[in-house]
Amino acid sequence: MFCTTNNTYYYSLLVTIFLVLTFVFPSEGQLSATFYSNTCSNVSTIVRNSVQQALTSDSRIAASLVRLHFHDCFVDGCDGSILLDVGGNITQSEKDAVPNANSVRGYDVVDSIKSTVESSCPGVVSCADILALAAESSVSLSEGPSWTVLLGRRDSLTANQAGANTSLPSPFGSLDDITSKFSAVGLDTTDLVALSGAHTFGRSQCQFFSQRLFDFNGTGNPDPTLNTTYLSSLQQNCPQNGNGATLNDLDLSTPDTFDNDYFTNLLIHKGLLQTDQELFSTDGASTISIVNNFANNQSAFFEAFAQSMINMGNISPLTGTQGEIRTDCKKVNGS
Ligand code: HEM
Ligand SMILES: *[C@@H]1O[C@H](CO)[C@@H](O)[C@H](O)[C@H]1NC(C)=O
Ligand SMILES: *[C@@H]1O[C@H](CO)[C@@H](O)[C@H](O)[C@H]1NC(C)=O
Ligand SMILES: *[C@@H]1O[C@H](CO)[C@@H](O)[C@H](O)[C@H]1NC(C)=O
Ligand SMILES: *[C@@H]1O[C@H](CO)[C@@H](O)[C@H](O)[C@H]1NC(C)=O
Ligand SMILES: *[C@@H]1O[C@H](CO)[C@@H](O)[C@H](O)[C@H]1NC(C)=O
Ligand SMILES: *[C@@H]1O[C@H](CO)[C@@H](O)[C@H](O)[C@H]1NC(C)=O
Repeated sequence: MFCTTNNTYYYSLLVTIFLVLTFVFPSEGQLSATFYSNTCSNVSTIVRNSVQQALTSDSRIAASLVRLHFHDCFVDGCDGSILLDVGGNITQSEKDAVPNANSVRGYDVVDSIKSTVESSCPGVVSCADILALAAESSVSLSEGPSWTVLLGRRDSLTANQAGANTSLPSPFGSLDDITSKFSAVGLDTTDLVALSGAHTFGRSQCQFFSQRLFDFNGTGNPDPTLNTTYLSSLQQNCPQNGNGATLNDLDLSTPDTFDNDYFTNLLIHKGLLQTDQELFSTDGASTISIVNNFANNQSAFFEAFAQSMINMGNISPLTGTQGEIRTDCKKVNGS
């Protein structure tokens, strides 16, 4: 009798400890859909409204914000490190790394979203989470899929310019190169193909694909995988010795809409970047059947894209007491 009561007592104690550990101190590394439900229940709406507002004066901003989240997550995880300017202990900004300089944009819009969020819920929502929410809003407001964004990331105290130089994929790489950059952050071939589908909107400067247009890889001829009709129009927009910063739509058919045209374009050899077309034109590649599936079935692409954005958003976040909640996305607090 005594023994039973005693066991019951210890059992209840263990259950209580378990519940406290599970719900009061959620395990580190674990993001959650309800992270701000008691502290900033409006945050998704605030971010969505801000992105919608920004789109009225800049039709490209949705694409730019999605890319910003990608370039954040691939370097030391989704920790807002890309947003830090030089100052205080930050001596080298990721903004000045090769893949970001004069290329990544939207920082001012992130700052404006952050200050709107701060005015409703001061000191609560991380810049890293704002990037994840802004990416989802950008896709869904552009007629793409929506998904439940997992939250609870914290902001870094450091930036890693060397990491940004080396971890982000180059548009001049081979399929093996880009596959290994993805695999280095735990993303597989399906993630690679699905996430490349983000090139269904936004722009690229001529300098990132002009190597394909006149003398590809020292052959004296254009890239043979480029559709000749498309080639002519690209050669006109991006002449030899022209301005490498001239912009070109990544998706020639629907430049600002999030749809599966990126994949139907690859089937007719109208991928803009070398790394885009390689997904379909590399002999024997396992990416070919995935491209075919997404080109033939937009729902399959949308489902896979949403899942892969969640996968990318889970790349080594800072959680719990790691890092901080920055007040200003450009600066470590107190610097
Ligand atoms: C697979 C490897 C990838 C390579 C080599 C690559 C490369 C590039 C390059 C060179 C540009 C043009 C930048 C400029 O002209 O300044 C670009 C634009 C863009 N990228 Fe990627 N990218 C890759 C994957 C991704 C992923 C995974 C995402 C997001 C999930 C993404 C989203 C975008 C978007 C939306 C734009 C247009 C941005 C804008 O208009 O501001 N890219 N990418
Ligand atoms: C949610 O946002 C609306 C305006 O967008 C604001 O009026 C309201 O106070 C906010 N609610 C909370 C709980 O922050
Ligand atoms: C990143 O690459 C650029 C260009 O090669 C170089 O100037 C810069 O020093 C690199 N940054 C780091 C931290 O290695
Ligand atoms: C470029 O040419 C080299 C040999 O000159 C070859 O090994 C390589 O595969 C070529 N790259 C492409 C993308 O065709
Ligand atoms: C080039 O594009 C046209 C449509 O503009 C298409 O009919 C043709 O099949 C494409 N060529 C190749 C080699 O994919
Ligand atoms: C398209 O993909 C969706 C989602 O994966 C799937 O449920 C559906 O059966 C596919 N449709 C066809 C026609 O294959
Ligand atoms: C800069 O780094 C030093 C040493 O790690 C630290 O004590 C200090 O708090 C940091 N300052 C800021 C403003 O982050």
